[in-house]
Amino acid sequence: MNADHVRGWVREARRIVLLSGAGMSAESGVPTFRDAQAGMWAKFRPEELATEQAFRARPAMVWDWYALRREMIAQVEPNAGHRAVAAFQQRHPGRLAVVTQNVDGLHQRAGSAGVLALHGNIAQEKWLDAPRACCAQHPPVDGHPPRCAVCGNLCRPAVVWFGEMLPQAELEAAEAAAAACDLMLVVGTSGVVYPAAGLARATRGRVVVVNPESTELDDAADAVLPGTAAGLLPRLLED
Ligand code: OAD
Repeated sequence: MNADHVRGWVREARRIVLLSGAGMSAESGVPTFRDAQAGMWAKFRPEELATEQAFRARPAMVWDWYALRREMIAQVEPNAGHRAVAAFQQRHPGRLAVVTQNVDGLHQRAGSAGVLALHGNIAQEKWLDAPRACCAQHPPVDGHPPRCAVCGNLCRPAVVWFGEMLPQAELEAAEAAAAACDLMLVVGTSGVVYPAAGLARATRGRVVVVNPESTELDDAADAVLPGTAAGLLPRLLED
C-alpha cells in the first residue's frame, strides 16, 4: 500500500481521526520522548520528572524542567504536517478530528479546531492539591513553582503524569470519534502508551501508520507508510 493508495482512502472516508504523538512535532524541533539519540527521556528518567511523587519530592527541579520545555515550545512553529491537517479541517468541516498525545499546542496553533489533547497542555497550570477558598481568592505568588500565599498549595503544569487518569471528557470524545471513524491516521507515535494507543486498536475503520520507524501499532494497521509527518501529510490530505 503506498501513499497514493492511502490518498484514495482519505478521499473516500466520511469521518477521519488523526491520532498524533511526539513525532508529529519532531520537524518543528520538539524532541520526541523515546528517540534514543535526541529524546528527552534519554537525558532524564521519566519517573524523576513526570510523576506527582517526583514533583512533591523536588518541586523546583520538576517545575523548572517543565518551564524550560514550555519556553522551547513557545519558540517553535507548527510544521507542514500540522498545517495540512488544519487546512483539511477548514476545507472539510466536521470530517477530521484531531486526537493528540502532545502537550505542545502546535495543532491548535496551526489552526486545528476541537483538538482532543489527551495528555493536557504544557502552557496551562493547575493546583497540585484541591484548591481551597484562599487559593481562589488571590493570584499565586511567583516562585519555582508559584504557590498560594496563604496555604502554600503549589501550581503544577496541567499535563497528565505517569500514573494519572486522562481527562475524562477528552478521552470519551476520542473513544467516540475512534468508534465512528472509517479511517484513522496514526502519526508520529511509538504506540506504547495506553489508553491513547488503544484507540487505534478499537477502531473498526482503516488504520494507517505514518512513521519513519516501525511502531507497536504496525500490526493493527491496514497500511504502514514509512515517512515523516511533514513529508507525507500534505500529500495524503490534498484534495
Ligand atoms: P514517542 O517518543 O514514544 O514516539 C515518537 C514516535 O515518533 C516514534 O515512533 C518515532 O519513530 C516517530 N517519529 C520521529 N520523527 C518523526 C517524524 N518526523 N514524523 C513522524 N514520526 C516521527 O512519543 P509518543 O508516542 O507520543 O505521555 O509517546 C506517547 C506518550 O509517552 C507521550 O504523550 C508522553 C510519553 O510518556 C505523557 O507524558 C503522559
